Amino acid sequence: MPTYNTDELKNRFIVIEGIDGAGTTTQVRLLGETLIARGFSCMVTAEPTMNHIGQLIRTILSGEDMVVPTTVAHLFAADRNEHLYGKNGIMESLKSGSLVISDRYVLSSLAYQGTTCGHRLPWLLNSAFPAPGLTLLFEVDPEICIARIRSRLKKEIYETLEFQRRVQTMYERMAYRLSNKGWRIERIDGSKDIESVQRQIESIVFAFLGFEC
Ligand code: TYD
Repeated sequence: MPTYNTDELKNRFIVIEGIDGAGTTTQVRLLGETLIARGFSCMVTAEPTMNHIGQLIRTILSGEDMVVPTTVAHLFAADRNEHLYGKNGIMESLKSGSLVISDRYVLSSLAYQGTTCGHRLPWLLNSAFPAPGLTLLFEVDPEICIARIRSRLKKEIYETLEFQRRVQTMYERMAYRLSNKGWRIERIDGSKDIESVQRQIESIVFAFLGFEC
């Protein structure tokens, strides 16, 4: 495996996390637009990815393909490995001087696969991946999230209130564990309207990047 300067990651790699319907996808897009408008080169990306492994994961999440939960944990880790180290991946972008903003990363696996197959395996599979410089964890009542995603046409196997409640609890536990390992994790109140969530994010990210709002 190639060696990289992990400070490059720390300084320019930002991740947004939260349960389904928390609004991470919208906010990742908005943050990317803001940073690009301010002249930053910025890769806006997401997990599961659009590559082969990510597509396979999507068919499993849709309920079309059934595999055991531990297989899903391995697939997410494989998708992440490619996302980080593969062609046009996160490392390549960071090395070129770009910022990277990802909708989900390691903490998603610890929370979701931690819920479906216990925390040991996801922890093991993800322990070698580098920490981002900043993780923004959305906190929103799962009932609000489920109401937000109810109207979506494409349903996924994880989208039930009971499951999302368990994932939310696991997010908290795992965020605590990662913070103890030195990850910087900031909470965002995702229950507010899009603009006020955007303002919360911008004030944290701008301070992290060292420039004025
Ligand atoms: P999501 O961000 O909801 O994508 P989309 O809005 O395009 O459907 O991600 C899909 C699901 O994948 C979501 O339920 C969370 C889940 N997931 C995991 O279970 N483990 C992981 O490691 C990642 C990255 C996502």
